[in-house]
This record gives sequence, C-alpha cells and structure tokens, in this order.
Amino acid sequence: MPKVLLVDDEPSILSVLSTLLKAEGYDVVSSLGGEKAKEHLSGQTFDLMISDIRMNPINGMELLTLAHEEHTKMPVIMLTAYGSVETAIDALKLGAFDYVTKPFKVDELLITVRRALDYSSALSENATLKAQLGTRYHLENIVAESPAMQHACEMIQKVAPTDATVLIYGESGTGKELVAKAIHAHSNRKGHKFLAVNCAALPEPLLESEMFGHVKGAFTGASANKEGLFEAAAGGTIFLDEIGSMPMSIQGKLLRVLQEKEIRRVGSNETMSTNARVLAATNRPLEELLEEGTFREDLYYRLSVIPIEIKPLRERREDILPLVVHVLRNDVSEGESPAVLESEVANIMESYSWPGNVRELENAVRHALTFAKDNVITKDVLPARILENPRLANATADAESRREQALDLEKCKSLKAFLRSKEKEYLSQVLSHTGGDKERAAKALDISLATLYRKLPDADIVPEE
Ligand SMILES: Nc1ncnc2c1ncn2[C@@H]1O[C@H](COP(=O)(O)OP(=O)(O)OP(=O)(O)O)[C@@H](O)[C@H]1O
Ligand SMILES: [Mg+2]
Repeated sequence: MPKVLLVDDEPSILSVLSTLLKAEGYDVVSSLGGEKAKEHLSGQTFDLMISDIRMNPINGMELLTLAHEEHTKMPVIMLTAYGSVETAIDALKLGAFDYVTKPFKVDELLITVRRALDYSSALSENATLKAQLGTRYHLENIVAESPAMQHACEMIQKVAPTDATVLIYGESGTGKELVAKAIHAHSNRKGHKFLAVNCAALPEPLLESEMFGHVKGAFTGASANKEGLFEAAAGGTIFLDEIGSMPMSIQGKLLRVLQEKEIRRVGSNETMSTNARVLAATNRPLEELLEEGTFREDLYYRLSVIPIEIKPLRERREDILPLVVHVLRNDVSEGESPAVLESEVANIMESYSWPGNVRELENAVRHALTFAKDNVITKDVLPARILENPRLANATADAESRREQALDLEKCKSLKAFLRSKEKEYLSQVLSHTGGDKERAAKALDISLATLYRKLPDADIVPEE
C-alpha cells in the first residue's frame, strides 16, 4: 500500500484529501503545516508527498527542497491556488513531479497521484539508474533555452534509462520525433534499433501487419512471412507516431502488447514475447479523442504514465533565435562561417507566430539562406508569410495602441492645464452674462470674490457686449 504524506495548512483540505486518498487504498499520513511535515520526513519514508505551496512558516518550496535532499526518489506533487501557476512552475524546476491547481478535480488529482507512483516505481526498477542520474546528459542537438524546453529535457533524461512508456504530446513540427530519438539515444537500448511508424499514414490492415508482422497467406498479397516492427525493434524502441489515428481494433492489440509483452503476427496463432519499448506521440490531445470515443480509455492510461509535453514555439519564444542560430550553424558549408541575421530580421522572427513550429522555422531559415547575399539574412529574403503574419500585425497593433496610450498619458499630464482653460472659459461666460458684475458672478458661481479674482486675474478685461 503506497504511503503518502499529505501537507496543507488548511484542515478542511487536509481532511477532504485524506478521505479521498484513503478511499483509493493509500496509506495517508496527514500533516497540518510544514513544520509537522518536516518531523514526519525526518523519521519516516514515504512513496509520495503531496504538499500545498503557500504555507507558513515553512512553505511548500522549502519542504520540496528538503524532501529532495533527504528522500531523493520520493516524487512530490504540489498543490497550488488557481492563478499562481508561476510558482508551481518554479516548483517543477526544483524537481516537483507535477502540480495540481486548487480547486482540483478529483479525477485529475488521482491520475496525477497514480502517475507519480508509477513513475517512481519505473525509476527504481532500473538498477543502473542511480549511476546514470548522476551524469548530466548534454542533449546536444536539442535547443532548449526556454524553461518549458529545459523541463522537457530533464524529463527526457529522467525517463530515458527506464523502460516506461512515454507519451509525447505537441503540435505538428514541435520536435516530438526528436524527443523520442533522444529518449532512445540516452537509454540502455541505444545499441539497438529505433523504429518509427506513423499510425495515420497506413490503412488498418497494413498498419497491423507493419507493427506485428504477418504469416504467409494471412491475406491476399501476403506471399511470405514478414517480421513486424515489434520484432525488428527487439531490445530497442518503437515509436508510434500520431497514435491518436490508430484504429480501435489495433488499439486493443497494442494494449495487450503493453500488458502482456506478447505479440502475434497477423494470421498466426503463435505468440512471441517482445521487449521493445514503446514511445508514442500525438498532436491532438488524447483526452479529446476519449471524449469523441475514438480512443480507448484503458490504452490512454497505459500510455500516459509519463507524458512529455512540447509547447508550441509561440509559447517559448526564448527558443526562436537559438533555433535559428542552430539551423544556420548546421547548414554551413565547409570552410565558411554561418550567415548572420540583421537585427530587424531577428525581431520579425521572434514575433512571428510559427504555426508550423520548429519545422517551419527550419524551412524559413533555409529559404532565407538560399536568397541571402553576402551571408547576411535581410528582411527581403524572408518567406512572404512571415512578413504578413497575424502575430506581426498584432505586434504592430500592440505598438500602435501603446503609442496611443502614451498620447493619452500626455493628455493626462496636461489635464490641469486643460481644466484651467475650460474653467477660465466658463468664468468669462458667466461674467459676461452678469454684464461684468463680479459680485453677481461670484455669487452665481458660488465662490468668493477673491477666488474669482485669483482665477480670472484679467477679469477686468471682460469683453463688453
Ligand atoms: N528543440 C529543438 N532543437 C533543435 N531542433 C529541433 C528542436 N525541435 C525540433 N527540431 C527540429 O525540427 C524538425 C521537426 O521536428 P520533429 O520532426 O521531431 O517534429 P514533430 O513534432 O515530430 O513533427 P510532426 O508532428 O509534424 O511529425 C526536425 O528537423 C527537428 O530536428
Ligand atoms: Mg513527427
């Protein structure tokens, strides 16, 4: 029974969570506040800690650091108030497994708990892990300047040495296959094959035979026995790309493979064992497909034990220019130095929305290189769509609205002067109405005569009718 340390300084949350987790069969130790938790951590071991972030005097971040020093393998899930996601991201950087925002959905919390426990058992299964975790891998061909990408790289390093199934999620062109290859390259399987299959590219019968192989005569055209990718990737990794497009019937078969580690060639009754590790990728959230009923829930849970999300490029702009430089360096011919960007081009690239993500960026840079003169990339050699893109229009609109705001600000500064001139206008009108009678005017205006004089020093020169 996994033992969970639960920390919050709100008794009500503590009691709700504890009841919930106990009902799920976890052994729960509740701790009201950080100090109590510290005591528990010094005397006992836990399989998981769930801690609130904002607590006094010891907050969740301190507790996380402490937990990491003393219980290196224990995953930690942070609870954070809605709207303070930035702190939660800091917690991830400090090594928290994940965070759940309050108020939380019960399902979401339980799935995260399950994932954390699965993840840590996957980690401890691997005997060589400890040694490997000590080495900081340099993921040399993955540009990762943004915190989001750095987090993805940390995940790659952590999961690579395990045999855990990993689900890589990201829009088209974000680098899913690159991540899958990096996981393989940093695993003990690197001496074996990495084989990829695009589940969207093959019709159902072909996909099945591609994955599992077939025997002679299994279907028209099956003129000989054929080995499937699972067999060919023995000891290695199989990458199921666009898994969301996998037909239901094959999903069922894949689930069995994952559970029983056995495959069967199409048309055969014999089962064979397989030890290929499965990595999968999708550019549509599988949760959407679950709702549509086109993806099996049981397979979803199996696959999403360890998810790695690759953010679209527009959400990690710090990576844009380093990626451009990366492509320029890679494309340089022998004995030449890489091309350079004009600063205006750098700005344009940074503000472009990159709907096709890194792949589009690579193509754009190569396009520009083809037309660049004197090894300098200028605005006029960029693909037209980058110059016409909506984000840029927004950026210009943003700049314009900023300028307008600045104008408004100037107006605000001169508001006093504006009011003064309006006041003077009005005072003069009233005075002219009273035929220059200052006392009557002051009375009508409900101010003293002295004030009227002060406000209208030249009141004597009231235009005569
Ligand atoms: N962080 C990165 N650093 C360096 N190169 C990257 C990075 N991310 C992506 N790339 C490059 O961008 C291109 C597209 O990446 P990849 O093919 O892995 O994307 P994908 O998510 O699998 O795309 P799709 O969904 O279209 O299949 C590749 O050439 C890859 O090497
Ligand atoms: Mg791909």
